[in-house]
Amino acid sequence: MILVTGATGHVGCAVVSRVVSSGHEVAALVRNAEAAQKHLPRKTTLRVADYENAPALKTAFTGIDGLVLISSDGDVDAIMRHHANAIAAAVAAGVGHITFTSIVDVAQSSPFYYAPAYRDAEHRLASCGVPSTILRCGLYSDFILDTWLAPASGELALPAGQGLVAPVSRADVAAAVAAVAARPDASRALYAITGDRAMSFDEIVVAYADATARPLRYRPCSPGDYLASASARLVDPWPRVFTSLCASIAEGRYASTSSDFATLTGRQPESVRDFLNRVAPGEPAHD
Ligand SMILES: NC(=O)c1ccc[n+]([C@@H]2O[C@H](COP(=O)([O-])OP(=O)(O)OC[C@H]3O[C@@H](n4cnc5c(N)ncnc54)[C@H](OP(=O)(O)O)[C@@H]3O)[C@@H](O)[C@H]2O)c1
Repeated sequence: MILVTGATGHVGCAVVSRVVSSGHEVAALVRNAEAAQKHLPRKTTLRVADYENAPALKTAFTGIDGLVLISSDGDVDAIMRHHANAIAAAVAAGVGHITFTSIVDVAQSSPFYYAPAYRDAEHRLASCGVPSTILRCGLYSDFILDTWLAPASGELALPAGQGLVAPVSRADVAAAVAAVAARPDASRALYAITGDRAMSFDEIVVAYADATARPLRYRPCSPGDYLASASARLVDPWPRVFTSLCASIAEGRYASTSSDFATLTGRQPESVRDFLNRVAPGEPAHD
């Protein structure tokens, strides 16, 4: 039995569908069973727990062979606690293998707000005694579209300098996660899941304009200017999250590409152009 956390979310839901299709028995960890039934394939077994509730997590993980831990969201302390609780509960429940979605940018020197939380989870996995596979994911194409491209009007101003990114769609992240979860014995301990080409934001806005007929140009701006404008629109911690993410991009921390996606799935990841052409122009991606 494979249990997928974050199963009402975009990535988790897609992982559940893929693992069901591969013929494995699947359970979905959710917070609200009634709401979850609308998202998930019919007859998906539901286990109910919040990452904040350690005893409920242990009960939810009982009898599970493989845990797919989709990273949590929120402020950095909460995320660290959520991952720690889930890993400790998996150990206590005797889970046989853990698959975890991390990020490519976990270095101690990273300016990214979330880097310490992912580094902490990776350390916990390495020392918990349960075999694990970590997928360090690049920026989601969907995130770039929903957070930066679609809301922009004529100009996209980011403090990312001339940094490159190798975006990967949430659908492809789910495909890679499902491939590992279905065959944990054949999986390595660490994979990098990125797009196959590093692109500048100048190239990305051209691809967006071609897909949507909405002209957009990229303008590198200062971190201070971006933080001020984001703080006027968004609640904490998001202005700090996005400003520090751009600092990390500017330092080249999202520029590397990996062939690990193809190794796991036997195909190339969807390009940013194909992704933008697939999703409805200007609409949030639904995967
Ligand atoms: N690499 C990137 O570019 C990038 C961008 C954005 C996010 N991420 C990370 O990737 C993860 C998956 O992305 P996504 O698009 O699938 O996210 P999503 O759609 O927001 O899904 C998040 C999932 O986490 C669950 N969750 C949140 N807090 C929880 C808690 N306290 N206890 C139990 N479950 C909880 C949510 O459950 P409910 O439905 O109950 O809220 C939901 O199922 C995110 O959580 C985030 O860590 C990466």
